[in-house]
Amino acid sequence: MAEKDMTGKKWWKNAVVYQIYPKSFQDSDGDGVGDIRGMISRLDYLQELGIDAVWISPMYCSPQKDNGYDIADYREIDPMFGTLADMDELIAEAGKRGIRIIMDLVLNHTSNEHKWFLEAKKSKDNPYHDYYVWKDGVEGVYPNDMKATFGGPAWEWVPELQQYYFHQFAVEQPDLNWENPDVRQEIYDMIRWWMDRGAGGFRLDVIDQIAKEPDLGITSNGPRLHEFLRELSRETFQRGDLITVGEAWGATPENAKLYSNPDGSEFSMVFQFEHMVLDQQEGKEKWDLAPLPFIKLKKCLAKWQEALHETGWNSLFWDNHDLPRIVSRWGDDGRYRTESAKMLAAVLHGMQGTPYIYQGEELGMTNVKFTDISSYRDIETLNMYEERIQEGYEKDGVMRSIYAKSRDNARTPMQWNAEEHAGFTAGKPWIEVNPNYTEINAEAERKDPDSVWHFYQKLIRLRKENPVLADGAFNLLLPEDEQIFAYTRTDQETQMLVCANFTGEPASCPVLTEWQDAEILIHNYTGEPTEEMKPYEAVIAVRKRG
Ligand code: GLC
Repeated sequence: MAEKDMTGKKWWKNAVVYQIYPKSFQDSDGDGVGDIRGMISRLDYLQELGIDAVWISPMYCSPQKDNGYDIADYREIDPMFGTLADMDELIAEAGKRGIRIIMDLVLNHTSNEHKWFLEAKKSKDNPYHDYYVWKDGVEGVYPNDMKATFGGPAWEWVPELQQYYFHQFAVEQPDLNWENPDVRQEIYDMIRWWMDRGAGGFRLDVIDQIAKEPDLGITSNGPRLHEFLRELSRETFQRGDLITVGEAWGATPENAKLYSNPDGSEFSMVFQFEHMVLDQQEGKEKWDLAPLPFIKLKKCLAKWQEALHETGWNSLFWDNHDLPRIVSRWGDDGRYRTESAKMLAAVLHGMQGTPYIYQGEELGMTNVKFTDISSYRDIETLNMYEERIQEGYEKDGVMRSIYAKSRDNARTPMQWNAEEHAGFTAGKPWIEVNPNYTEINAEAERKDPDSVWHFYQKLIRLRKENPVLADGAFNLLLPEDEQIFAYTRTDQETQMLVCANFTGEPASCPVLTEWQDAEILIHNYTGEPTEEMKPYEAVIAVRKRG
């Protein structure tokens, strides 16, 4: 496929990406865990939805301490998911349907069962020792007070070596040492190997953390980060026609212009998370809940839209495998579930950037409330629960945080139909299915022309048909309005309006009167939109510039 289309534009600027969480998408062999053959059986579904590429969370050999984000062998598929031959077939079958496969690369750390780490632990002069980050020391006296994201200190003692190793995530996820050129070359070689197998792109896990400097207390945005990324890109991605996206919790509009530099020197785009931390208490953890400051949300998204226009590229998302379900988070998963799911979709897909849809988002799937902690599987959730209960937090409050923010909200099985286990597996699912699958499922939604699913399908089509969606400049309207999220997108010929009521109460939106003659492209209520917007009403309209 050509790098650029007829207008000289990168193909991924018109693309919509779908994310699959492999353990929970579709099981084919009844072991209760999703797998590659299951995915192959659902490619027609994805093609019908209209997406261009699928990002799949890691399926490499892994002890699964962090569901595959702890990789033990980058060149093998975990038997739980299938074989390399299945993977080749998935790439080929997806290709026949015009769908590219984006692999997830975890390059900041490996599993502690990776052969590099097993060697590294043997002795200080083992050739692999310097693949990881070590500190001499004394047992019990940590080199410094850095903490790991999944709880506890970021240092783990290895008595045989009288050394600590550094881990930003779980103890079982030792950090790789990017200062070592051998590590970098091994990684580039492995990426080229996947490119040769037909990978259509890569998502780079916590990529802003690779250039850590534990001595200085630095985790993300280390001094050598962009030097490493430019080398990585030169040695690998620039040799193909790929879509690449870096995960960067520490991204700012300024450094995002480097990550997504239009000259292609780093990635196609980054995932930034500024809007995703707004509903937590400032300076605290995600579990410390706070109401969403709506005006801040609008201004935050607008800031990113404006900053990257023509100087970089945004990725657009509400959901992923680490985040709660957006309809439960900022919509209404009760009475207005359908309306609010569509509203959130319209607001997101109207912006400039590449939209990502997380499995089940296209159905308006919701958060889950397991009554007992033993039903949860996520290492982050379980560690936090232990820690907070020990610290004396009250159990109900901890469970409330879990219901709002646990990563398992996104990880319950995909709801395919109303049959047992939602059609996900013939066996016992590795994590319980959300009980609302009898009402919320793909089969029912595909039959219903007014479903969330059809709304997403239409939004994807609109992106293909309206160049203003890819190129148009963004302008936020009514920035101080407490209910309305409205903006325009404007190019040479066309102006588009996206107007949404973000609340469950009626709202007045004067802008709509000025747009009465415009063509309505999509609307989540029947009848003409008027100045009085209904709960969670959303409309996208377009007109020629006069
Ligand atoms: C990223 C992944 C997350 C994982 C972490 C450590 O944030 O999205 O699922 O736990 O990195 O690899």
